Amino acid sequence: MLKKEIISINNISKEFKGKKALSSLSFNIQKGELIALIGSSGSGKTTLLNIFSSSIDPTQGEVIIDGKGINEYKSNKVFAKKVGMIRQQFDLVEELPVIHNVLAGRLSQWSTTKSILSLLIPQDKTLAIKSLKRVGLEDKLYEKTSNLSGGQKQRVALARLLVQNPEIVLADEPVASLDPTRSEDVLSLLVSLAKEENKTLITSLHSVKYAKKHFNRIIALRNGKIFFDLPTKDITESRLEDLYSLQELDNNE
Ligand SMILES: Nc1ncnc2c1ncn2[C@@H]1O[C@H](COP(=O)(O)OP(=O)(O)O)[C@@H](O)[C@H]1O
Ligand SMILES: [Mg+2]
Repeated sequence: MLKKEIISINNISKEFKGKKALSSLSFNIQKGELIALIGSSGSGKTTLLNIFSSSIDPTQGEVIIDGKGINEYKSNKVFAKKVGMIRQQFDLVEELPVIHNVLAGRLSQWSTTKSILSLLIPQDKTLAIKSLKRVGLEDKLYEKTSNLSGGQKQRVALARLLVQNPEIVLADEPVASLDPTRSEDVLSLLVSLAKEENKTLITSLHSVKYAKKHFNRIIALRNGKIFFDLPTKDITESRLEDLYSLQELDNNE
């Protein structure tokens, strides 16, 4: 199969008030890869995902998304078809029924009038039902979002992403607030949805166990640098021990 580079970063650094959060990262990601991003808290995972989603700019370096510099995407609508992100806190509007949150995945493609109208009368009910079915929540269409459990809310966030339908899916610790059973469910669902449509998936995770179980490539960050970037099958226990045991030294630097 012909490989296609979907993300390419070259010498990326990010500083916050003079403090380096990411230092000179370079790597390529092929279309359809399933990647877990691991590393201790503060190692730079969220910062990197925020750069890929264009929420923040790197201080230095180049980000190419599907052959084009990230800042060359002038239209939000076009960019939303390339990259979509699920955040740790899901970003759902709790007071609204599920259907509104699901169809918010369309907002970047809608006119302002239609977007505002959709808050009153949800547009495209069929589309909402279709994506809720895929995450097993079709009976919750009109349920107030705040009444759902954590796992169900995460599924609503997934349904919203299915409506947006981007080529690259970023997920920032998508199971951090869920219990182990729900975490397995949500991760399996996320990975199978990505596989079905040959999407590229990059997920930051706290748990190495989940990373190894569901992803074929693992990128480990330590102190804003790449500690390793390997196929899952090549990752040894001692590498993982090094990754986490050195953290204490980093904190005292
Ligand atoms: N908006 C910000 N302002 C200042 N410092 C930040 C900001 N975002 C992240 N940082 C710092 O950058 C480093 C990396 O953070 P982050 O990307 O959130 O790590 P992770 O997601 O791996 O826990 C940390 O030292 C954090 O304090
Ligand atoms: Mg984070």
